[in-house]
Parts: sequence; structure tokens; C-alpha cells
Amino acid sequence: MKLIVVKNSDEMSKLAAEKMLAVIKEKPNATIGLATGGTPKGVYAELRKDHQENGTSYGQIKTVNLDEYVGLSPDDPNSYHYYMNEEFLSHINIKEENIHLPNGIADDLQTECKRYEEIISSLGGIDLQLLGIGHNGHIGFNEPGTSFESRTHLVHLTEETIQANSRYFDSIDDVPTKALTMGIKTILESNEIILVANGKEKAKAIKFLVEDPIDELVPASALRSHANVTIIVDEAAASLLQ
Ligand code: F6R
Repeated sequence: MKLIVVKNSDEMSKLAAEKMLAVIKEKPNATIGLATGGTPKGVYAELRKDHQENGTSYGQIKTVNLDEYVGLSPDDPNSYHYYMNEEFLSHINIKEENIHLPNGIADDLQTECKRYEEIISSLGGIDLQLLGIGHNGHIGFNEPGTSFESRTHLVHLTEETIQANSRYFDSIDDVPTKALTMGIKTILESNEIILVANGKEKAKAIKFLVEDPIDELVPASALRSHANVTIIVDEAAASLLQ
């Protein structure tokens, strides 16, 4: 696992975008795994800017997102479908049929999880997966205690995650309590993984990830068993590291 500490979140975003662009340029039909949340917004801003200024093409790129809330339709402003379009996908020349997110309003959520795994396999797996990290060490919506053998599944969000995500909603009562997420095994099968984190509120999670033993109670610690992971953090998120 490679740890890179940069000065601030701007530098974090620039470096993560640079690494993503290297993969996109080397393999123009790559499958890129995407994350939502506050942390990667700057990364998507960098990628948008690059697309505008340098014309990097996404004509053959496929994307698979980590997760989606259950019960929110793609046109709900709090859905991850909506977020991805706003922040990134509607700004680049990606083909609609190459964009994949779990469907949180599928009639049968178990079948939807299977379908999503099949999509990822049919794309030949994920070339590069971008991740954020939750305060409790979650990746995707894999909460503490999730099996490292897990594949795309339905999760009941913890109080802590609902609380943390309520900042994006009008009221905490509006935050969905369930989500569909790629499993830890699905994530670990990616060829390359980049995890970004900034701010002091992520410092504990980064300490767990980097210094604690590998344990299912810290989902992100599974990344330590992967051969090609880069963790990019700002000084505040690195502030508790020894
Ligand atoms: C989002 C996701 C989550 C977030 C994490 C951090 O698709 O899978 O694991 O990466 O909750 O969220 P922020 O960046 O909002 O602090």
C-alpha cells in the first residue's frame, strides 16, 4: 500500500485525477469505478477541467459506481445517479449505456445485486477504483463487520453513517436507511485502487487503515492485502499517523 501525504485537499484532488487520467489514456476502454460523497468532488472538478481543456476522451470508457441508496430514483437530487451526472458524467463524452450504478428502486433488490455483479464481470472487472472512506472506516457502504468475502449486497446503514450523510439532506429523517453497495471482495478484485481522504475528521479512519491490524471491524483495512493501492491524504487526514 502506498501512502502519499499532500498539503491540502486541492493537491489531493489533482494527484488523484492525474492518476485516473493516466489509466484512461493508457487504456481508452477502461472500466473505472467511481465513488460519491464530498471527498471526490474536487477530483471530478479536475477531470471536468481536463476534459474541457485537453479533450481527454471518454468515448469508450465504462464506469461502475460503488453504491446507491435504496428508494431514491435517479432524478432525486440526493441519489448517487443524480450526483454523478451533476459532478462528472454529464460533462464528459461518455456513452449513456456505459454508465452503471446499482438501481436502488429495483423491485427485487437481491436480483439487482446479482445483476450488478454480472455487469462488472461482463466488463472484465474494474481497472481502477476510486474510493473515499467513512469516519468508521467504511468503503462503499460496507459498514464495520462486513465480510471481506462480500459481493454487491443490500446494507442497513449504521446510525453513524446516517448521521454523517445527513449533512447532504434537508433533515436526518430524509436519509435512506438502506443502500446497495459493491462488496469488499468486488472492490478488492479491481486492478488498481486509489483512496482519497481529507480533513481532520478522517484522521482516525486513516490511522485505523494504515496502522491497525487487518480486521473486518475496519472495512478499509482489507485494502492492505491488495497489491496496488494508493492512499492520497491531506496533512489533516494524516495528522494522527505515527
Ligand atoms: C460513496 C461511498 C462512501 C464515501 C464515504 C466518505 O460512494 O462509497 O464510502 O466515500 O462515506 O464520504 P465523504 O466523502 O462524503 O466524506
